[in-house]
Amino acid sequence: MLSAEQIASYQANGYLVLPDFKPAAAMAQVRQRAMAMVEAFDPAEYIAIFSTKDSSTNANPYFLSSADKVHCFFEEEAFGPDGELRQAKALSINKIGHALHDRDPVFDAFSRGTELAAVAHDLGLTQPQIWQSMYIFKQPGIGGEVGWHQDATFFDTTPLSVTTFWFALEDATLDNGCLWVQPGGHRGPLRELYVRDADMVRMDKLDATPWPEGDAAVALPVPAGALVVFHGLLPHYSAPNRSAHSRHAYTLHVTDASTAYSPRNWIQRGADFPVRGF
Ligand code: FE2
Repeated sequence: MLSAEQIASYQANGYLVLPDFKPAAAMAQVRQRAMAMVEAFDPAEYIAIFSTKDSSTNANPYFLSSADKVHCFFEEEAFGPDGELRQAKALSINKIGHALHDRDPVFDAFSRGTELAAVAHDLGLTQPQIWQSMYIFKQPGIGGEVGWHQDATFFDTTPLSVTTFWFALEDATLDNGCLWVQPGGHRGPLRELYVRDADMVRMDKLDATPWPEGDAAVALPVPAGALVVFHGLLPHYSAPNRSAHSRHAYTLHVTDASTAYSPRNWIQRGADFPVRGF
């Protein structure tokens, strides 16, 4: 699937962009499915504002129980001071997570297949396991920033293996909050570790290396249909979306079964709901 040049580029930079990876029809199907999930979601039932900036808010049961379910999370700025939604519910959801790939047939089909298995294999994932899926809306006007981080913070394995598959379902641009990465930054240390202890979660500081600044950060605008694959240690971030256009994306976080998956990672699977690959 991948050429020697693509594999070399991934190893050098810590990421790889594969344009035109998903056909328009497949993207339309998952978009439609996500909208139906939001339509069926009752905000009054579960008011849980998800903030990636404050990990302490994650320790709510709605978040933790989403590990093996399909839950909708609001944007941080979704509600006004009066407690009412600022805009329609369909334009107020931050994301849907975190087991769409195993709980929904449309997302299952989108998340698996020979092409993805081949990409994973070529990047060194010999026994891929898909732990998490997220449908990210990055809503127009209120889509929040996701600060600099490394995905290995949330998926600790020994040795490190987590790899992110990031699908652009709409054009991701500088205006609507595309990804920013630090090319080569995957050779740096893991800075933080997200640890779960029963119903508590915390962020442990491991290393004081600063996040990239200035020219070290490179924007990755990509057209709809592109797949961006990146290394678990690659620092990345996305700016808030102040444009009038949404920036839908879908992500998978994948580790290798030949590594040891930490029992302190927030997502765990039992024998009744085993983790699967592509
Ligand atoms: Fe990330």
